[in-house]
Amino acid sequence: MLVSARSFAEYRAMFALTDRDLAGRVLDCPAGAASFVAEAGRRGIDAVAVDREYALHREELGLLVERETGYKRDRLVKETAGYSRSWYADADDMIRQWTANARLFRADIAARPDRYVTGALPELPFADDSFDLVLSSHLVFSYGNRLGEQLVRAALLELARVARREVRLFPVMVYDTGERYPGLERLLERLAGVGIGSRVERVAYEFQPGDDEMLVLTCAEYRTPALTAPAAPGAAVAVDPVRWRHRERGA
Ligand SMILES: C[S@@+](CC[C@H](N)C(=O)[O-])C[C@H]1O[C@@H](n2cnc3c(N)ncnc32)[C@H](O)[C@@H]1O
Repeated sequence: MLVSARSFAEYRAMFALTDRDLAGRVLDCPAGAASFVAEAGRRGIDAVAVDREYALHREELGLLVERETGYKRDRLVKETAGYSRSWYADADDMIRQWTANARLFRADIAARPDRYVTGALPELPFADDSFDLVLSSHLVFSYGNRLGEQLVRAALLELARVARREVRLFPVMVYDTGERYPGLERLLERLAGVGIGSRVERVAYEFQPGDDEMLVLTCAEYRTPALTAPAAPGAAVAVDPVRWRHRERGA
């Protein structure tokens, strides 16, 4: 799996984000080397990034993305040959944009390290309802065939657990097949059974041909066991330095 580095403008387009959507706390999961959090921070938006790669690579992740896209240029040219309506003019334009975004990411992770949290789905290191809005781009369904249905379902429940209002996922298409994730309807029915609403929305963004759909999960009615049951004595407390800092400020 390539670690990518999309921009704030791309996130805005692929998740149909309004200023109102971005008024609360936002989580980017998985963020990879995307510059969404860096650019959001410059705009005064309270956004946090989480990715499993941050355990091994932090500041250098941006550099690794630059190098990897360079090495894989020929493959990217081949894979993106039919992407006529894509955000990028061609593979070289994509590499150029990702390089610029990865540089913003590098500068921000060095300047604001506590905005970049190491964590892996399906278990995130955040308390329930930590964020108003959770954004998830190019993992859960893109690689859904490799992750397997059980992990996809667990990942969606986990994203919903940490979201107070909504989770938005893009795309709903599987990267390898170019088809909509096959277990989607069954999965959404199961989520409805635990109080998570859903809808698929068309957006003004396309990466792969025809993947211009995002999934919105509505979480206000979803109550995880951890929210209703008192924690067992001695149970581990979720680590969320950003949340605690906000609490100290009385937010
Ligand atoms: C294709 S990148 C997407 C990055 C970013 N959202 C973007 O669009 O540029 C996929 C990311 O998922 C991360 N990843 C893979 N499995 C993960 C997991 N179980 N939990 C958290 N992150 C994971 C990888 O490290 C990688 O950075």
